[in-house]
Amino acid sequence: MKVTAVAPTNIAILKYWGKHPLWEKYHIPMKSSLSFTVDGLYTKTTVEVEKGSGKVSFTLNGREITPDMKEYEYVEDFFGKIGRLFPFVKNYDYKIVSENNFPTAAGFASSASGFAALVKAIVGAVEEFSPYRDDDRKLSALARLGSGSASRSIPREGGFVGWWRGFGPHFLKEPEAYSEEERWNIIFSSYAETLYGPDHWPELRIIYVKVKKKEKKVKSRAGMRQTVKDHPLYKDWIDYEEGQMKDTMIRLVREKRFPQLAELIMRASNNLHAMALSTYRPIIYMNETSHAIIDAIHDLNLEKGENVAAYTFDAGPNAVVFTLSQHENEVLSLLREIVGGENVFATKPGRGPYYTEEHLF
Ligand code: DP6
Repeated sequence: MKVTAVAPTNIAILKYWGKHPLWEKYHIPMKSSLSFTVDGLYTKTTVEVEKGSGKVSFTLNGREITPDMKEYEYVEDFFGKIGRLFPFVKNYDYKIVSENNFPTAAGFASSASGFAALVKAIVGAVEEFSPYRDDDRKLSALARLGSGSASRSIPREGGFVGWWRGFGPHFLKEPEAYSEEERWNIIFSSYAETLYGPDHWPELRIIYVKVKKKEKKVKSRAGMRQTVKDHPLYKDWIDYEEGQMKDTMIRLVREKRFPQLAELIMRASNNLHAMALSTYRPIIYMNETSHAIIDAIHDLNLEKGENVAAYTFDAGPNAVVFTLSQHENEVLSLLREIVGGENVFATKPGRGPYYTEEHLF
């Protein structure tokens, strides 16, 4: 059986940063996060399965991924985890061919769309997964086992998505303290779902801004592990964002109140990077150009007398800027001046993943 799935990337406005230390291999997040599904940036993955013994071959953007590569480790690790939860996975061999329609090297995260497309394609291709094909909550938890942020690229409606942390992380004991059934419930208690579809706020725009980087990047997986492990303010930060920011952001999206939402988007991004910077050893993702973008957006908002744009940054110097259609041109020219026109890409919230024509489940 051969199945092709397309999954979009997503951009978080309330960030995921940290797994429960005792549940690290299951990627149970320490706090919930919120994101928009991004129209036009996606991974397309074809999975061909035949009866076998769990062998996996993987081609990414036309390049064969071999065991010495980081991507191989991620995918192998993922197959190990789903094989433990669903033993039938090991009765097949897999030929995976994956393409991003955006350059991975540009630093735009591809693990989110990558694992979302992979999960969709696998569950489409493996017959025993058919009871799960329509269960986006379960599928989002499976994608999470590949990469946390991938869970948010699973809900098929897309749009504005919440990924819930599930069981309160402050109370969780180690996995071995639970029965198999309880463990299963905990693993699937952290899932993602659409809160408002992509047509909820038609004026909303999402602008990707590519920033040249020189320095070597600390992978988000290693970075967040260090923050969870040793940052004295980590618990306060997650309690604050989980307890206050999350619900306020959801309400502001529901009511489409851009200026207020913009402030929280910028604060949440700043909080993430402040936590990263004050991790020991410091993790620095933004560079001078990133800071120039931050300044330009604040100056613009000041000049307008209200927030008309908001920036957010992930584990790298690239910016993603939110604005509304009536300010789009002005914000675009401001960003083009800083990074050059070829490095700016404007889009909007979009739908979730889907199968290509041949496979309509
Ligand atoms: C900064 O999902 O890449 O983009 O679960 O270890 O694979 P793993 O991490 P990943 O982390 C993304 C972190 C972030 C914030 C976010 O997208 O919420």
